[in-house]
Amino acid sequence: MLRWKEGATPLDLTGTAVEQVLDLFLRETGERYSEASVRHLPIPAWGGNLVLVDSTSASPERILGLLWATPFKDDIVRVAAFAIDTAAQNQGWGSRAWEMFARTAWSHGYRKVQLEVKAENDGAQRFYAARGLTVQTTLEGYYQSGLGYMMQGPLSPPSQPKPYAPR
Ligand SMILES: CC(C)(COP(=O)(O)OP(=O)(O)OC[C@H]1O[C@@H](n2cnc3c(N)ncnc32)[C@H](O)[C@@H]1OP(=O)(O)O)[C@@H](O)C(=O)NCCC(=O)NCCS
Repeated sequence: MLRWKEGATPLDLTGTAVEQVLDLFLRETGERYSEASVRHLPIPAWGGNLVLVDSTSASPERILGLLWATPFKDDIVRVAAFAIDTAAQNQGWGSRAWEMFARTAWSHGYRKVQLEVKAENDGAQRFYAARGLTVQTTLEGYYQSGLGYMMQGPLSPPSQPKPYAPR
């Protein structure tokens, strides 16, 4: 059974966990990061640091997905990494993480979300566009493999329960 749980700040991850994260990034985004660059990402332990784990697997739990968000500036929160193992994609896990993250970010006072995505990554851009993000600028030299986009959009307040009973 898979579930999203709050993750540790990257500096506190075990060596095995960091290896799994590097492997996940390489497999799912094609980007190769070093252990040091991942360890020094300023991702606090908060509701915007989510790890998808298989809770039935033997310990240490296998990391099957990650959403890492970090305070950026003013009321903007930045998603620094978002990736889900191929076997777990297209089953709603990404949507669920986004909802959990967006709710937490709103409650911490953030009103906008910003991130970078490869220009060739149509699937992820569709996912973000469906959540209100639009391309703001083109990024050259940001990705090893080519052009990227910076996308930004508003965060929405969590939907309120209706003040009346449905008919
Ligand atoms: C982008 C990514 C994080 C999205 O996560 P995901 O778990 O695949 O996303 P979901 O399953 O929640 O939603 C994907 C789409 O499938 C659809 N979907 C949701 N639940 C579904 C289900 N049970 N069965 C089939 N499709 C489903 C959704 O409608 C969604 O469409 P949308 O883009 O119009 O919203 C994931 O695909 C991924 O890791 N991709 C590779 C790495 C990557 O590109 N990361 C982003 C870098 S910026």
